[in-house]
Amino acid sequence: MEIIIQPSAEAATSIAARIVARLLREKPDAVLGLATGSTPLLLYRELVALKLDWRKVTTFNLDEYVGLPREHAQSYHSFMWENLFRHVNVAKKNVHIPDGNTKDIPKFCAKYEKQIKAAGGIDLQVLGIGTDGHIGFNEPTSSLASRTRIKTLTERTRKDNARFFGSEAQVPHHVITMGIGTIMEARQNLLLAFGSTKARAIAEAVEGPITAVNPASILQMHPVTKLCLDEAAAAQLKRADYYRWVYGNKPDWQKF
Ligand code: PGA
Repeated sequence: MEIIIQPSAEAATSIAARIVARLLREKPDAVLGLATGSTPLLLYRELVALKLDWRKVTTFNLDEYVGLPREHAQSYHSFMWENLFRHVNVAKKNVHIPDGNTKDIPKFCAKYEKQIKAAGGIDLQVLGIGTDGHIGFNEPTSSLASRTRIKTLTERTRKDNARFFGSEAQVPHHVITMGIGTIMEARQNLLLAFGSTKARAIAEAVEGPITAVNPASILQMHPVTKLCLDEAAAAQLKRADYYRWVYGNKPDWQKF
């Protein structure tokens, strides 16, 4: 794991944007795994401003709520089109987001996995982290080998996401999410976390034991995972000074 600690969410995002931009310039037909939520909003804004060429890019989103109409303002379909896709020249046929209204969830999930493989696998997966350590919507105790499937949200996550819906009662209970095994097959993972509410989950994921109770901790086993954090999200890391030293002493070509 490479831990990149920056003074602000903006500064951390800017590094993440340069990592994604470099990939798209070096590999115009890259396969990107994308995330939703508050955290990647700044990243998408920066990527739009960079005016990259998305014509040959393929995308797979991590997750979607079950039963929420696609047109609902809080569906991840709406989120992605509103915040990224409509601002770039991505081909609609190359965009994949789990279908939360599919009639046959297991069949859909198996197909999603096949589509990822057929596209050549995910080159870079953008991740947020839940206050409970979830990645995608793989809640604590999710199998560390899980594949795309239906999951039930924890009360914690439903409370966290109530801010988007107006009330907790309106937050769906179920989601379709890529599994942890699916995420672990991405060639590179780029996890962003900002704010003090994420500090505990980050400290456990980076410096705690690998455990399904903090799903993000499995990233310790991933060969190319970078975490872009602001100071608040990094506040409970015991070895923060070491991570700062490592990043500060890297040659520029290794940074992005
Ligand atoms: P947030 O969600 O970016 O809205 O904090 C992160 C997540 O749940 O993965």
